[in-house]
Amino acid sequence: MSSDDENSVLKVEDLGVAYGAYEAVAGLEFNIRRGEFVAILGPSGCGKSSMLNVISGLRAPSRGRVFVENKELFTPKSKAPRLGYVFQSHRLLPWRTVRQNLEIALAPSAVPRSEWNRKIDEILEILHIGQFKDSWPLRLSGGQRQRVSIARALVVDPSYILMDEPLSTLDEVTARSLRQELTGICQRTGATVVFVTHSVREAVYLADRIIILTRGPARIYEDYTVPLKRPRDYDDPRISEIESEIVARVQAPWGLGNTEDRDVA
Ligand SMILES: Nc1ncnc2c1ncn2[C@@H]1O[C@H](COP(=O)(O)OP(=O)(O)OP(=O)(O)O)[C@@H](O)[C@H]1O
Ligand SMILES: [Mg+2]
Repeated sequence: MSSDDENSVLKVEDLGVAYGAYEAVAGLEFNIRRGEFVAILGPSGCGKSSMLNVISGLRAPSRGRVFVENKELFTPKSKAPRLGYVFQSHRLLPWRTVRQNLEIALAPSAVPRSEWNRKIDEILEILHIGQFKDSWPLRLSGGQRQRVSIARALVVDPSYILMDEPLSTLDEVTARSLRQELTGICQRTGATVVFVTHSVREAVYLADRIIILTRGPARIYEDYTVPLKRPRDYDDPRISEIESEIVARVQAPWGLGNTEDRDVA
């Protein structure tokens, strides 16, 4: 049965991903609701990208079900989900200007052509890159390019946005300013975001909830609600405290440190 939660944007039931006999994701369950910012935290190789491939509609799961706005994906009647995707590298087309890169994203979307210009202008302004509308991506800094790729994800009015470590290649000062803006933008636009990161601190700062995975095959270790109001300060000692608590808790399930590793199958 599909969910009767009308605010559900992305729901997975018993989600598994296998490559032949190798199981990368083993029975994930979660429900992400409209406007939530959910971070996914897990050690390298645990199955995060495998999970993103399924919840983006690119790859059918080997078991379980995925629902977007209460409609099941991967059935003969399913439509492709409306989503934005921000990758670790910006993946902009270098032979297209910023505006043209956004238009390429808009072309298959439901946004009418008559609104493209207005939407592009608006989103570039929000991200403080309006002056680069007709620039080539190679003329921009790394941080500016990543702003463009966030703009490209937002401009299509997506049901949800998937971000796979979008700030990890930026220097820390640029990453900080983008993190701060990202929280503001998401609140203003009411975006629903699934954000994969290796950084516990980044997850605590950005997210409403953190889904902590085990070492692979990925299972849910903990679905943690961040007990901090917004706006948040990246240097808030509470963020450091929560970060330390989480790091201590994941030693065993991530197979780290000297802790014995009895919890993990
Ligand atoms: N196409 C594939 N065929 C076979 N095995 C794969 C394939 N893609 C991923 N895997 C394996 O599945 C496991 C999970 O990989 P995945 O890329 O999902 O991890 P990840 O959590 O995203 O890692 P990282 O944090 O390093 O990006 C790994 O052991 C990987 O080797
Ligand atoms: Mg990955």
